[in-house]
Amino acid sequence: MKIAFVASEVFPYAKTGGLADVAGTLPKELEKLGHDLKVFMPKYNTFDEAEHGLHYQWDLGGIPVRVANRVHFVHVHKALLPNSNVEIYFIDCPHFFHRFKIYTSDSDEGERFVLFSKGVIEVLQRLQWAPNIIHCNDWQAGLIPALVKENYNWDRMFDATSFVLTIHNIAYQGRFAKSVFESAELKFEHSQPGGAGEFEGGVSFLKMGILFSEKINTVSETYAKELLTPEYGAGMEGFIQLRKNDLSGILNGIDYHIWDPETDKLLPYKYSANDFSGKLENKKFLLKHLQLPFSENIPLIGIVSRMVVQKGFDIFADAANELLKLDAQWVILGSGEQIYEDLFTKFAHFFPQKVVVYLGFNNELAHLIEAGSDIFLMPSRYEPCGLNQLYSLKYGTVPVVRKTGGLADTVLDWNEFLTQGLEIGTGYSFGEYSGKVLLHSVQRAVNDFRLKEVWRKIQLNGMNKDYSWGRSAKKYVVLYNQAKRQSL
Ligand code: ADP
Ligand code: GLC
Repeated sequence: MKIAFVASEVFPYAKTGGLADVAGTLPKELEKLGHDLKVFMPKYNTFDEAEHGLHYQWDLGGIPVRVANRVHFVHVHKALLPNSNVEIYFIDCPHFFHRFKIYTSDSDEGERFVLFSKGVIEVLQRLQWAPNIIHCNDWQAGLIPALVKENYNWDRMFDATSFVLTIHNIAYQGRFAKSVFESAELKFEHSQPGGAGEFEGGVSFLKMGILFSEKINTVSETYAKELLTPEYGAGMEGFIQLRKNDLSGILNGIDYHIWDPETDKLLPYKYSANDFSGKLENKKFLLKHLQLPFSENIPLIGIVSRMVVQKGFDIFADAANELLKLDAQWVILGSGEQIYEDLFTKFAHFFPQKVVVYLGFNNELAHLIEAGSDIFLMPSRYEPCGLNQLYSLKYGTVPVVRKTGGLADTVLDWNEFLTQGLEIGTGYSFGEYSGKVLLHSVQRAVNDFRLKEVWRKIQLNGMNKDYSWGRSAKKYVVLYNQAKRQSL
């Protein structure tokens, strides 16, 4: 099968969250299964072209793409995804993408991704490469199905192309003023009341993707069910319900070439389930870096996260006084909304002897925190899949999570199974979204940390789980086959 995989961020070129990890790995896994992949992303000026081996595609030249009645000349760069033969094409348009940030709140944010979407289609045409599937990720690629089916349907090349939309997070809906559909030259009716893209008086790119794709999926089975409810559907549940028969959940995998403590290039000390000594060395190394003392019975609790409402930091704040009284140390890495950044800065200020906070994005430190911490906290309000708990399991860093979305599907609560006589738990999880229950779960983890044998069992249970991409990639192939367009 020929598959065009479209995403706004792809690791290692640009990353703000888990989408980049997925987009940097899933295409390679699909290629291993014998499929022909091309990946597309914008060429931001946040990464260095030479460092990543990008080559300018002279043969494609400047491709005119019209947005808001203005013609922009798009240029194309190409590279191979690291350790693979998968080609990745970068849509280059300095006017829209040279902003020193991947996402902006600029007034033309919608038009940026109209340009990107049209750019992808035009590049496919220039390459004369007719994909069987265009796999669109999130709202940034949400207009592609409608654009191909209605604006580019004169090109018979796309007659046999079907569309799969993966929703990585329903809260990001690509909502803009109606005029952005005019800029995209989409049919007028789509932005009108009751139209396919109309949403609460404006338009939504994601809604267009939901209604125009043959198949929709999300990144865990539980989140696929949650999406149908008002609590998690973020206003889109009605449209998701319309597509219920075409909706599924496929759990993300992880790239063990990048996230494996036995081979992780970013760790000072390697370790594995057979030899934990390196993990302790990483902890000591990390604590030294944090200027915190090492003590055998005090666990280090790590957080690596975007600091946004999704991640549950409001219940963390509710329980903070009690949490920070626990006999534990904390290392927190993240960036995002001011209110959460301020919150954590405050904690570090009041508890300098046990809390260290890094604001910003730091991949190397993220790996070190995964390896050097004993416990990893993810109290998410909702979590479509979550990758950090999967990394934590692999790194023997016991996750404490809220039981939602992918967290519910991947972390088995130690006590819950123990009451059934089963020692199969891999972490701690809680259902009720409250500071009180969060505190109780962290407490359970901190207490068990001192029971060395129990703790080692929980660590090993997690480390022995297999979340490699193989199985999930095969499920995507099944989904692609089911996506074949009926109405040709
Ligand atoms: P989300 O995509 O909602 O942010 P995930 O758990 O799926 O959540 O993925 C987050 C990814 O981003 C992980 O690879 C994590 O290590 C990384 N990450 C998040 N914040 C930071 C940060 N401040 N510095 C480095 N890596 C980060
Ligand atoms: C989103 C979700 C996260 C998921 C990631 C990759 O950012 O918030 O839960 O793991 O996408 O699918």
